[in-house]
Amino acid sequence: MSDSAPWSTTCWRSRGSRRGARPTCEVDLDELCYEQLQRTFRVPIDRSGVLAGRVIGVPDELTSVVRNLIDNAARHAATAARVSLATYGPTVRLCVEDDGPGVPMELREKVFERFTRLQEARSRDAGGSGLGLALTKRIVESHGGRIFVESAALGGAAFVVELPAALADDEDDW
Ligand SMILES: Nc1ncnc2c1ncn2[C@@H]1O[C@H](COP(=O)(O)OP(=O)(O)O)[C@@H](O)[C@H]1O
Ligand SMILES: [Mg+2]
Repeated sequence: MSDSAPWSTTCWRSRGSRRGARPTCEVDLDELCYEQLQRTFRVPIDRSGVLAGRVIGVPDELTSVVRNLIDNAARHAATAARVSLATYGPTVRLCVEDDGPGVPMELREKVFERFTRLQEARSRDAGGSGLGLALTKRIVESHGGRIFVESAALGGAAFVVELPAALADDEDDW
């Protein structure tokens, strides 16, 4: 594993699941964001609000959370998107927002159900399974977090993920 891997090389815990034990590591979500944002998108994505955010979790699963939300924002944005990340006491908060059509108030729970694709997405492109957000929600919840969508300051959708922050090293050793 390269030195720049956004998670420690030692995975010291396992989470039980139907798919078997998943190795759990300390993961720098900011590194995952930067890694995903290295790709080219159809709109510029502002990353200046990505600060530190360290959580305990399954690296591959957390990678798909970040990737799904960024891909959706880039697809639905009119001209721009923004990713921000910060730690507020015990909580790490990731917000991925765009200036697209947003998600109407009455559909803000339903977008997280499997196979939901809103009218605008269906008319935009035939691709897309409507599974990304359902999987994202399942992963976030299995990490003890929550996800919701609200109106973005940019004018479109703001998908917000809140996860328990990993304890800082100096809080760990007593
Ligand atoms: N950033 C966004 N802005 C507006 N609508 C969105 C956004 N992200 C997701 N959606 C809506 O939620 C639906 C479900 O998203 P998702 O589960 O990722 O499925 P898919 O991307 O395969 O269509 C999308 O089809 C779209 O209608
Ligand atoms: Mg998607």
